Amino acid sequence: MTDFRSDFPFFSNEKNKGLIYFDNAATTQRPHQVIDAIRHFYEENNANPLRGLYDLSVRATEAYENARHTVARFINAAEDCEVIFTRNASESLNLIAYTYGMTNIREGDEIAVSIMEHHSNILPWQMVTKAKGAKLVYLECDRESGVISDEEIAAKIGSRTKIVAVAHVSNVLGITNDIEKIAKAAHKAGAVVVVDGAQAVPHIKTDVRALDADFYAFSAHKLTGPTGCGVLYGKKSLLENMPPFLRGGEMIEYVTREEATWAPLPAKFEAGTVNAGGAVALEAAVKYIESIGFDYITKHDNSLASRLIEGMKKIPHVSVIGNSDGNRHCGIVTFTIDGVHPHDIATVLDTERIAIRAGHHCAQPLGSYLGVPATARASVYFYNTEEEVDVFLSKVKNIRSWMGFKD
Ligand code: ALA
Repeated sequence: MTDFRSDFPFFSNEKNKGLIYFDNAATTQRPHQVIDAIRHFYEENNANPLRGLYDLSVRATEAYENARHTVARFINAAEDCEVIFTRNASESLNLIAYTYGMTNIREGDEIAVSIMEHHSNILPWQMVTKAKGAKLVYLECDRESGVISDEEIAAKIGSRTKIVAVAHVSNVLGITNDIEKIAKAAHKAGAVVVVDGAQAVPHIKTDVRALDADFYAFSAHKLTGPTGCGVLYGKKSLLENMPPFLRGGEMIEYVTREEATWAPLPAKFEAGTVNAGGAVALEAAVKYIESIGFDYITKHDNSLASRLIEGMKKIPHVSVIGNSDGNRHCGIVTFTIDGVHPHDIATVLDTERIAIRAGHHCAQPLGSYLGVPATARASVYFYNTEEEVDVFLSKVKNIRSWMGFKD
């Protein structure tokens, strides 16, 4: 494999030498290209964008809008104004719920979400359905494979459905949902599709137009970008007809004592001083990811996930959650060990300098559905190695004996 690690100051930092970082579904590490872009923006171009009439502010505005253009191209949006910068994927999803959802949902309507959603793509819809007297319907997946069947799609998406909110890739199962198919069913029913792409965009080439997603949300920090910067893609015709989410500076056209009218897209949805440094750093992350290419990233993530799963299958008492094919995990491998609480798994691995996530992964309805309220999760990215996987497996093998079990 190519040595990408030299791009990451994190891995050569004295405190992190030898650390196996397997919590990439929670957040990724940043290459110097991203850190340099932030530094460069603040050292050379920092001013409040979109307001100033002086050259420096124009430069800041250009940097910010260039970042938007890069992101729009990256996900194949038709126009730059269809990309709204937010704080994170959660804020993007809340924006849709508070604006599109609260405006368009009526009593008796249905919103369909999948059972594998992160809380960020459930709670906003619970809020809308409760406020409007509508119903929240769950698309259930096969408990073994994680796949949502055609029959389930046909049964749950119908004439009452107004919104279908679904993860492109599950943050627990790693399974990729067939968004094109779900979008087709939703559109036939007259509903819009909201896609949580937080776990997909870092790992697979994402084309919002090929998917025919009406809205698509993701976070910069899961693809080597900064925290505090998220993206909401929305089809222009939909965004134009939605009311603003947050109200304040730079999102207006005119304000009188009583009323206000709104600025055109994308400003209508970006109230207050924008996170220009974050957007510029996200642009650097996108360019960095593109320089590696999804051919490599997807193949590498799948190969490491397959190695993890094949290795785990050989360890007694270890069970992998979800599909048995590592190529269908987007680098996410969630597992349990008989008799050992996932928090103990994570704590024991931490003593071996391996970082994984344990708990409900902000997907409690899925845990209840699968009968596993808590699990451990290893998640890899392109900078992880086969050697790390092998060390991880050798440590997992010892966890039960470490906890005092005899077999
Ligand atoms: N949503 C992130 C995860 O799944 C934090 O870990």
